[in-house]
Amino acid sequence: MNGLSKLQSYGLAAISCGIALPVAWPIDAPASCFLLAVMVSSLFGGLGPGLLSVALSAIGYEHFFLWRTAPPAHEPAAFFRFAAFLVATLLVTGLMDLKRRAEQSRTHAEEALRQANSDLARVSRVTTMGELTASLAHEVNQPIAAAVTDANTCMRWLTREAPDLEEAREAALRTIKDVTRAAEIISRVRQIFKKGTPERELVDVNEIIREMEVLVRAESTRYSIAVDTDLLANLPDVMADRLQLQQVLMNLIVNSVDAMRDMEGTRELTIRSQQTEDGQLMVSVSDTGVGLPPQQAEQIFDAFFTTKPQGTGMGLRISRSIVESHGGRIWAATNSPRGAIFLLTLPAKADGHEQ
Ligand SMILES: Nc1ncnc2c1ncn2[C@@H]1O[C@H](COP(=O)(O)OP(=O)(O)OP(=O)(O)O)[C@@H](O)[C@H]1O
Ligand SMILES: [Mg+2]
Repeated sequence: MNGLSKLQSYGLAAISCGIALPVAWPIDAPASCFLLAVMVSSLFGGLGPGLLSVALSAIGYEHFFLWRTAPPAHEPAAFFRFAAFLVATLLVTGLMDLKRRAEQSRTHAEEALRQANSDLARVSRVTTMGELTASLAHEVNQPIAAAVTDANTCMRWLTREAPDLEEAREAALRTIKDVTRAAEIISRVRQIFKKGTPERELVDVNEIIREMEVLVRAESTRYSIAVDTDLLANLPDVMADRLQLQQVLMNLIVNSVDAMRDMEGTRELTIRSQQTEDGQLMVSVSDTGVGLPPQQAEQIFDAFFTTKPQGTGMGLRISRSIVESHGGRIWAATNSPRGAIFLLTLPAKADGHEQ
């Protein structure tokens, strides 16, 4: 509350009492003048200077004013006036000190609040940036990894003793498709930053599932995984961002492949499209893999939750926000007899929420 040093505060107490004395003398008003000096000292100096001014005022009052009008024996009321003056000055000092402390603690509280607010703003900025970076890395990483695999396959077909040009051509085509997808994602991200809205169009979900099946064929063959699709004919279209739905399905499929990679026995990936009783679309991706991590089944949708050494743990988190922004739901369950099943619903046609 004050910017005075200790020395200045005590100096102020001495000076204010020094001024009070000559002011009080001609008008014979020691109580009010010294009280004013005590108030000033306590207000700007604090308890110590306040008490110093009480002491100086008491000395000044006693020395110059107490015996001024009447000798002591004839004026006992003068003692009471002096005593009342002392009590008043002490009270004033105490009250001023309380007020100062209250104001100081309020200032501290306000300062702490400001600090907490700015910390919070920084943390949420960092979190948003972190999530965004992780999500970008995740989305771009998948097609690039697929492109590397396909380019390697292409090289293998070409460098065999008897090069198989047809297989090499197909692998090269897949590479082009993967890289185009990565480029599309990047251009979509740029669009999001520019316009803030993803593109919605009428999308045939069965078509997306078929595309994804083609894309994972190389991976599934490599790990001896049988991919089975069971698609409902005449499935209604959904109003959706095609690229985002591709990302959701791709992540579910890649997760299933990851879950079955090191499993003994049959490895089956089944993608099914259906329509629920209330007309919504339902897509399920089921596998015969390791199953959901025990006791952590709900956490798998949390940002950065992963049980994989190279995982970012953002795939399901992003998938959930994409599905929910389309007005749908996504959840996981245990598959029978083993593995996991992921289900998502989407509203048919244009019932989808606006972003
Ligand atoms: N089909 C599945 N079977 C068993 N566990 C799964 C399955 N899908 C997801 N999980 C669990 O959920 C976790 C989170 O999945 P998510 O897709 O969010 O991230 P990730 O796959 O670990 O990392 P990234 O997607 O970046 O590669 C996985 O690490 C895994 O433990
Ligand atoms: Mg994943």
